[in-house]
Amino acid sequence: MEKFIINGGTPLNGEVTISGAKNAALAIIPASILCRDVCRIENLPVSISDVNYMMKALRHIGAEVKFINESTIEVDSRHVSSYVISHDMTRYLRASYYFIGALLGRFGRARVAMPGGCYLGPRPIDQHIKGFELLGAKISVEDNAIVEANSGGLFGAPIYLDVVSVGATVNIMLAACRAEGQTIIENAAKEPHIVDLANFLNSMGADIRGAGTDTIKIRGVENLHGCTYSIIPDQIEAGTFMVAAAATGGDVLIKNVIPKHLESISTKLIECGAEVEEYDEAVKVSMKGRPGRCNIKTMPHPGFPTDMQPQFAVLLALAEGTSIVSESIWSNRFRYTEQLARMGANITVDGQIAMIHGVESLKGAPVRADDLRAGAAMIIAGLAASGTTEIEDILYIDRGYEHVVEKFSNIGGDIRRVTCKDPDSEIESAG
Ligand code: UD1
Repeated sequence: MEKFIINGGTPLNGEVTISGAKNAALAIIPASILCRDVCRIENLPVSISDVNYMMKALRHIGAEVKFINESTIEVDSRHVSSYVISHDMTRYLRASYYFIGALLGRFGRARVAMPGGCYLGPRPIDQHIKGFELLGAKISVEDNAIVEANSGGLFGAPIYLDVVSVGATVNIMLAACRAEGQTIIENAAKEPHIVDLANFLNSMGADIRGAGTDTIKIRGVENLHGCTYSIIPDQIEAGTFMVAAAATGGDVLIKNVIPKHLESISTKLIECGAEVEEYDEAVKVSMKGRPGRCNIKTMPHPGFPTDMQPQFAVLLALAEGTSIVSESIWSNRFRYTEQLARMGANITVDGQIAMIHGVESLKGAPVRADDLRAGAAMIIAGLAASGTTEIEDILYIDRGYEHVVEKFSNIGGDIRRVTCKDPDSEIESAG
């Protein structure tokens, strides 16, 4: 078992470079099988475990994956021969369901075990299924565990999403770019990674317009070809370092970012009293004194991202006054507040609303990472708190943060990864 040990209380200072976007990578990796060719994917966060599971799944269906350097792979999908992704491949990873759209696009059929991933509440896929059916696929779900999709050919169609869903938008784009005729997705998700996926597919010869707006138009093409593509920087990793800088009263230059993607986070940080300077491909965040309070409501992009809610709550836990955080995407995203309470935070949760009564300081404590972003919140809390924090279940954090120990250490964070052989002996491991 591994855990993080953090000695907090030191402001973060210096520069950090952000990796490629996990959520874009998780859509782009399966998209690469839509051609029978070689795709070179750059700025890929190769070390995170979600990306590794996705590459494993690619190999499982017959693709060759070659590492070119620490952030570039080549996917040769000429010999992809299977349309089946088994439970072994999907149980740890939500995004494995993108193989349904990608395999449908490639073979007109797919058999994919239902995915795992962080538990944030019930995660229905009715909008994905509705989209595939409108494209002409027949879908059956066996024992609530395996999705089987079959089509004698996909045909473009108008598809209105009843809820704004990133997953359904991605999956429908993947299937529709090889369908005959035009698909129009209305009420589409507008997240930066939707635009990145569209740009990747267009580099492969797809014809997708409107990504980043509510309406995405996809004219199906017969063939796609290989390409070289560089993934956008990770909006949420950048946001996590921005909040960490502010919560520790630090001053950090965060490089390799697209400041436009960070606007909802920057605006809230400024509201809390942080200084945020924007450069072409960097932002600098500093905070002097105690943060001020603010309210947050998570919304689909360009609203405040649900994936930044736990991290931002740490800042608010230290703020002067009471803040209200409303979670409107997931029903079970406040579990981390119990962990923060162990560190002295004063938070009351009622359904999907948390009232955060700011305290002057947090104290180190043993806590656990309940999920990926909850884990990131624990790191920030540990860095901002006085004393020592031990974080368990860090496998969740490794799902989405590359070189997290090195990156925080380089800006002055005292954080170590230790491997525990038994409760009484700890051995430090690499990383
Ligand atoms: C969502 C977030 C994404 C975040 C990810 C992990 C939004 C819009 N999406 O993406 O930013 O990175 O969680 O935290 O903020 N839904 C249905 N039926 C469906 C699909 C979804 O009702 O078929 C509902 C979900 O229950 C949820 C909402 O729609 O309440 C958004 O889901 P969706 O965007 O698909 O989830 P992810 O793609 O995981």
